[in-house]
Amino acid sequence: MKTIDELLAEGVTGKRVFVRADLNVPLDGTTITDDGRIRAVLPTVKALAEAGARVVVASHLGRPKGAPDPAFSLAPAAARLGELLDASVAFATDTVGESATATVAGLADGQVAVVENLRFNAGETSKDDAERGAFADQLAALADAYVGDGFGAVHRKHASVFDLPGKLPHYAGHLIATEVGVLKKLTDEVQRPYVVVLGGAKVSDKLAVIDELLGKADRILIGGGMAFTFLKAKGHEVGASLLQEDQIPAVLEYIERAEKTGVELVLPVDAVVAPAFPDLKTKAPADATTVAADAIPADRMGLDIGPASGKLYASKITDAATVFWNGPMGVFEHPEFAEGTKAVAQALLDSSAFTVVGGGDSAAAVRILGFDETAFGHISTGGGASLEYLEGKTLPGLAALED
Ligand code: 3PG
Repeated sequence: MKTIDELLAEGVTGKRVFVRADLNVPLDGTTITDDGRIRAVLPTVKALAEAGARVVVASHLGRPKGAPDPAFSLAPAAARLGELLDASVAFATDTVGESATATVAGLADGQVAVVENLRFNAGETSKDDAERGAFADQLAALADAYVGDGFGAVHRKHASVFDLPGKLPHYAGHLIATEVGVLKKLTDEVQRPYVVVLGGAKVSDKLAVIDELLGKADRILIGGGMAFTFLKAKGHEVGASLLQEDQIPAVLEYIERAEKTGVELVLPVDAVVAPAFPDLKTKAPADATTVAADAIPADRMGLDIGPASGKLYASKITDAATVFWNGPMGVFEHPEFAEGTKAVAQALLDSSAFTVVGGGDSAAAVRILGFDETAFGHISTGGGASLEYLEGKTLPGLAALED
């Protein structure tokens, strides 16, 4: 895989360089609530701009349906990129149309432009190779070289991720190089004990990674909404908690396999419950109580792991040499259900392990709960991408950069 350093060494002055970033940031209206992904691509954009390239930044945001939708405009992300670069960043109101062509043509050496959301074009996510290829041709016309740096999207076989690199000289950006280097430490070169903490709402999203990790990790700690499917599989009543009944056979098989292979699969021993899902906007009191994990009342839903589970999980992390954490332990956006996620984050900070926080919600949780993100070994920008890497899958966006 050629890297941006090789491109810089070749010289980029006056060259139009297309940077496929992942600026898919959480928005509240037009307000960015966590700009981590924009900050993560700064080293690449800065290096190119400082070397005199005309930098064309492109990304998806959300999941619009292949046509322009103002709710998913990249305009707020472009504005934030400009603030962080302390430079004016041009914004094209389309992706490959008149605005994009004129905006890119108007760039001077060292200037940066952002084009509108790639997914406003049906070709970006099309399953049809020809349709994707045609859109990639239009994107290729905007640039002389391609830098892949949208780590969060490398698991997507999309035009800008998979097809476009084949049409231009292509290089991995600083973020992708860093992310892949870290993930190698969790696969090829893992130091033991290797502890994995998995949370988040749905067990179905994590089945493949659990399957793979049962042969790799020493301990797997389960929290978040998905823990209730595990508790139910163990024969406990889970009240009104999130439950994926159809996943119980798979979960039971994992529980049995863990016992056979000596992997410690750790489930919550208590839970913070409430009568209903809390209001995350008003953060109104939610009438939360703590109950034992095998005594969740029928009219209560579990919304966080309890304090005893937090202590238990911390004790399972303390002697680790490597920790990978993906998914919050509870509804951390509400203060009554944030303690489990805080306990895990704190345990990672207290351990001397190499700690990796895997993308998406858990990365946002760390920042929103006020932890010093630089104190973790690595905070990945890719939730789905890092999980699929750990599942051992070939990621289209990385494969395309290898050729
Ligand atoms: C993410 O948020 O994980 C990435 O930006 C990929 O987004 P997607 O799941 O909509 O492809």
